[in-house]
Formats: sequence, structure tokens, C-alpha cells
Amino acid sequence: MTNHNITIRIEQQADYEEVERLIFAAFETMELPGRTHTNEHFLAHLLRGDPDFIPELDFVVEQNSEIVGNIMYSRCAVIRPDGKKTEALVFGPVSVKPELHRQGVGTMLIEHSLDHAHELGYKAVLITGHPDYYRRFGFVPASAYGITMLDGKSFDAFMALELDEGYLGVDGGRWKCCRAFDVCEGDPSAFREFHLAFTDRIQAGSSSCRK
Ligand SMILES: CC(C)(COP(=O)(O)OP(=O)(O)OC[C@H]1O[C@@H](n2cnc3c(N)ncnc32)[C@H](O)[C@@H]1OP(=O)(O)O)[C@@H](O)C(=O)NCCC(=O)NCCS
Repeated sequence: MTNHNITIRIEQQADYEEVERLIFAAFETMELPGRTHTNEHFLAHLLRGDPDFIPELDFVVEQNSEIVGNIMYSRCAVIRPDGKKTEALVFGPVSVKPELHRQGVGTMLIEHSLDHAHELGYKAVLITGHPDYYRRFGFVPASAYGITMLDGKSFDAFMALELDEGYLGVDGGRWKCCRAFDVCEGDPSAFREFHLAFTDRIQAGSSSCRK
């Protein structure tokens, strides 16, 4: 990082709106085939109310009193072929202010949060994301551990990182995230209601700024 006027701290309730705006702005820049809309700000909102959300791993990056980065973690599970569950973590959304992309903020945030996750005793992290980016943190395809998505599918962007070597083992299994992810993808009317209120607040904010 060239600018050292940067701190990482835990997200507070007073940050929620600013963080959701940051997430929306960051993910609006993301180009992915088949992607129709940005809903990661809604996911953040849902996650905070989910029993599997981990507030101790909900970090913001602050630069000159502005929030320029955020990462959130929640508990997930690998459901083994015998039905037993192995606990793991998933992070996401992870967001950096678009104007600061490719300056190391994301790397700093991910490394910092993974270190904390390890210190808190968590033993593995599973994510979906760009393999070229996450490989640098030690992520490998989840297929290396025989772990698939819940529907049995497997692809390179589904990745795993052991914080405790050997923890994921060789039995494989299927990946199950917490309820917030299901609601985010599966309840379009809840999303529309949230997003409308979100854009209304942004418009109200920008018109009051112009006064
Ligand atoms: C992904 C994101 C958090 C990375 O943060 P960042 O601060 O820009 O990342 P860093 O500066 O630490 O790292 C930049 C490096 O990662 C690479 N990179 C960043 N995003 C990438 C992506 N989606 N795919 C491949 N490589 C990516 C850059 O090419 C750059 O590589 P280099 O170091 O070889 O030049 C940020 O780009 C972002 O907010 N993106 C929009 C939201 C998003 O895609 N979130 C992740 C979803 S999986």
C-alpha cells in the first residue's frame, strides 16, 4: 500500500449504510457472464441478522474517515457422505471502493481477516470467486478435497483453504451456506423491497447534498 493512512476495524452498526453503498458500488463494477443484477448489498444486510454471521470477522477498511473496504464471514458446513457436518467459514461479500482497486486493499483485508479467523480457531474457508485472485492466499479448487456445491457441481471458482492442515480430510461432501445466501438468491420480492428503499435513501441523500 502506498497510502499508510489506513486502518482496519470491526464494522459498527453506524457503518451499515455506508458499507452497503460501498458493496453496491464495488459489485456494480463486476462483469460476469449471465449476471443480471447486483444483490450483494442485500446479502450483507441479511447476513448481519443470520445466526451464522460472525461479527468478530466483519471488518471495514477506513481511509481518512471513509470506509473503502469490507469483508464479512459466516459459518458454513461440509455435509459428509454419512450425513455428518464439518464446520467451515465462507467469506463474502468482499468489497473495495472501485477507485482504489488494484492497490492492495483487498489483499490486506483478506490476509488480515484470514489471520483473525485462524486465531479464533476456525479451521477452513470455502468460497466462490476468481481463481486467479484467490490462489495468492493459498486457496485451491475445493475438488482437491472432494467437496462439491450442494447440487453436486464442481468448478474451478469453488475453492477451499485449510487454516488447519488436514482438517478437510478426504471424505468429500457437499457445501451448505447459511440461510442468508438462500434468501438473497431465492426471494426476489424481498430483494426488490430492500433495493428500492436503498436507492430511495441514496437519492434522498444526493438531493439533500445539492441543496
Ligand atoms: C476483488 C476485490 C475485492 C479485490 O480488491 P483489490 O483491492 O482491487 O485487490 P488487490 O489490489 O489486493 O489485488 C489486485 C490484484 O488482484 C487481481 N484481481 C482483482 N480482482 C480480480 C478478479 N475479479 N479476478 C482476477 N484477478 C483479480 C488484480 O488483477 C490484481 O492483480 P495484480 O496484483 O497481479 O496486479 C475488488 O476488486 C472488488 O471490490 N471487486 C468488486 C467486487 C468483487 O468482485 N468481489 C469479490 C467477489 S469474488
